Amino acid sequence: MDIKISPSMLASDYANLQTELEKCEKGGADLIHLDVMDGHFVPNISIGAPVIAAMKKVCKVPFDVHLMISDPLFYIEDFVKAGADIITFHTECDSDINATIDKIISLGCKAALAVKPNTPIEDVFPYLDKLSMVLVMTVEPGFGGQSFMESTMPKIKLLREKCPNLDIQVDGGINTDTVKIAGRAGANVFVAGSAVFKSDNPAQTIQMLKENAR
Ligand code: DX5
Ligand code: ZN
Repeated sequence: MDIKISPSMLASDYANLQTELEKCEKGGADLIHLDVMDGHFVPNISIGAPVIAAMKKVCKVPFDVHLMISDPLFYIEDFVKAGADIITFHTECDSDINATIDKIISLGCKAALAVKPNTPIEDVFPYLDKLSMVLVMTVEPGFGGQSFMESTMPKIKLLREKCPNLDIQVDGGINTDTVKIAGRAGANVFVAGSAVFKSDNPAQTIQMLKENAR
């Protein structure tokens, strides 16, 4: 399985997004993780499609858009137009899951499903044929800088046994130590916000995450 590192821009300096994106690009980031929060699905508000569209103009790394919003189906077209390459939404949302996946794929984008820490991984099983990736949240979604929940690892192990070739992403509390635990459990796509952007050398941290994940 390819190891991919996806720095979360949530922890970056929003006043200097272009510079922050360049650090990721030079550091060898495989994806750019963009956290969209609506203040309803999660108790926090972040960025929307116009900001992502602006970022897309100055970055060549594929965009991994994580929708923490109640009605993703209504907004899919906006995020595809903004430049999303992969769109991840939650099984716990209010939209029809099949209809949302189909809409993402019909617009030429890759679809992924996410589960919160307390949601059983079995909830994604009916959709696996159509998914390019599954995100197993390793914190409660909504905020950066939280602690990694090792209790979510059995879900990753189970999914990896069932799907040897699927991209399995983890998000929340990933640093150069916890990346090893998640990697051992079977994850191969790692989101890291604070670990990358609060480090003295983001490019070096991206490389270290990649090495430690192997
Ligand atoms: C949390 C977001 C994460 C967040 C991770 O709800 O989905 O992507 O940015 O931040 P860290 O890596 O700091 O835990
Ligand atoms: Zn995220």
